[in-house]
Amino acid sequence: MSDTASSPIGVFDSGIGGLTVVAEIMRQLPDEEIVYFGDTARLPYGPKSEETVTQFAIQDTELLLRHGVKMVVVACNTASSVAVAELTRRYDLPVIGVIAPGALAAVSSTLTGKVGVIGTEGTIASHAYRREITNLDREIEVVEVSCPLFVPLAEEGWTDREVTLVIAHEYLTPLRDAGVDVVVLGCTHYPILKGTVGKVFGPTVKLIDSAEETAREVAERLSSLGLAREAGGAPEHRFFVSDVPHRFKEQAERFLGAPLPNVSVVSVDELAAESGRVESL
Ligand code: DGL
Repeated sequence: MSDTASSPIGVFDSGIGGLTVVAEIMRQLPDEEIVYFGDTARLPYGPKSEETVTQFAIQDTELLLRHGVKMVVVACNTASSVAVAELTRRYDLPVIGVIAPGALAAVSSTLTGKVGVIGTEGTIASHAYRREITNLDREIEVVEVSCPLFVPLAEEGWTDREVTLVIAHEYLTPLRDAGVDVVVLGCTHYPILKGTVGKVFGPTVKLIDSAEETAREVAERLSSLGLAREAGGAPEHRFFVSDVPHRFKEQAERFLGAPLPNVSVVSVDELAAESGRVESL
């Protein structure tokens, strides 16, 4: 196994949402080590400008590179929508976003040709899913809705509260009435609320969680590049956040169902200082 193959996979998100992708990578690739960064000091990314999110994505990637990762998984739809092309241009390592795998799954699942996409304001405003889906099949109609309150509800762990269902009805009823048969959960926080979202749409609408598809793409890319880590001792995962590590630890342990090693803090100043301000976007 090459030195690079034994290196960890870097994964980042604004908070705990990317753990939905981490859980799938751990399930599909149990020998891989993961370095995770949750930018908890600067969450949410959803309402921020494209320039700001791109700058954060560059700083997050720089942090992961300092920990010797062999691949970067942008486990955040907002950052994937606006920054994957820039990251791919800047860095000489594979960068995988969550949009393309989710779009592909939607296109192969729809029978009616009417697909719903829910995400943050940034993801929806970028129309990244619409572009990707219609590139694959221009006959498909894409209906996009942003659901900004879902991120704080997921961070809060309010997965099946009455208030969450009321808010979900408010956001999603127009989408349900539009007659979509597939809905992409276009934010990595949303699978945490999948039960409630499913109650609004009922059993006939398929919900696409791009975590599974993204982990599959990670597996394929690693194997085609000869970068898969071979079995040999339990992998050691490392977790970093930019603020309030104990809160992240609790949330992550609840979500992953396993105790986490220590969660370390990297301050926003450190993130910004080491990569410098990115002027040339
Ligand atoms: N989980 C992220 C996403 O997939 C970001 C949510 C946020 O910070 O607004 O878009």
